[in-house]
Amino acid sequence: MTDPLLSIQGLTKRFATAGGWFTRPREMTAVRNVDLSLSRGEVVGVVGESGCGKSTLARLIMRLIEPSEGDVTLDGVSLGNLDRRDLQAIRRRMAMVFQDPYSSLDPRFTIARSLEEPFAVQSRQVSPDEIGAMLDSVRLPASTAQRYPHQLSGGQRQRVGIARALALKPALVILDEPTASLDVSVQAQIIELLATLRDRFGLTYLFISHDLSLVRYFCDRIVVMYLGSVVEVLPSPRTPPRHPYTRALMDSSFAPDPSLRRTIAPLSGEIPSPFSLPKGCAFAARCSRASSDCRSEVPRLERHDGHAFACLHPL
Ligand SMILES: Nc1ncnc2c1ncn2[C@@H]1O[C@H](COP(=O)(O)OP(=O)(O)O)[C@@H](O)[C@H]1O
Ligand SMILES: [Mg+2]
Repeated sequence: MTDPLLSIQGLTKRFATAGGWFTRPREMTAVRNVDLSLSRGEVVGVVGESGCGKSTLARLIMRLIEPSEGDVTLDGVSLGNLDRRDLQAIRRRMAMVFQDPYSSLDPRFTIARSLEEPFAVQSRQVSPDEIGAMLDSVRLPASTAQRYPHQLSGGQRQRVGIARALALKPALVILDEPTASLDVSVQAQIIELLATLRDRFGLTYLFISHDLSLVRYFCDRIVVMYLGSVVEVLPSPRTPPRHPYTRALMDSSFAPDPSLRRTIAPLSGEIPSPFSLPKGCAFAARCSRASSDCRSEVPRLERHDGHAFACLHPL
């Protein structure tokens, strides 16, 4: 086995909110003790409901925010002890694509200027031919260069966002809900483009989504998060889930037509507040299999070969 491209150990992020006149300062854990490693060329999915910590995990990996505990290692280099310069250099080996390409494209700039910007760190000029080639790689015509973000469709903007992310030839690309704001047909085209680019440039993807059916379609391996913790890791998209939460996500996202989706009993309950998690398993309140043990003991993530799950009463 070759060394992993990315390895994450015990990654934890706590956020504190300032107290106000009538409220005390509070602390919550957005990402709790996450271990993960990605081999080169792999597409790993991270799935979970909104607020479970997916974007925080992405920002921790990119070192856009400091972890409270734990470390991230890329190509065998720990990001924890680097000075600014080395950190910037290693960050260039990673890139991120966001849900809303508006967040990475300045509305005042032409697309050409947005695509030139990543090269500023290398202080080098980018020729119109190079811009044309970048656009061509995401299947946009060269004429797109002279346009402004508002003149493009959502799908075209996301193609520009992808071209921009790939500008400096990263090894790892973190895709944070890259198709969540697009129509289903456009979503399929973007997924197909991402698959092509991965093969062409030998990319490794961390693909973040709240949509398990999409993650199962696109990813080799799936990490399921619930309230900041990894509750299951599926070694393949076809592995039957053992954690009731993954099962519930699967059942609720299986039918492509939302009107056909069954209402799943476990997911009908409310998500506990991240500021006051219950004792024991955070999913117990919504789980039809929960026993009294589940309400007192936090289940550990146990590995069974490549498959891992944190549940006292697995399926
Ligand atoms: N900068 C921040 N300060 C305080 N709380 C935050 C901050 N960023 C995220 N959170 C909280 O952390 C939790 C996880 O958020 P996030 O990572 O954005 O989830 P997801 O991407 O899965 O929807 C949420 O409860 C969110 O409110
Ligand atoms: Mg998010």
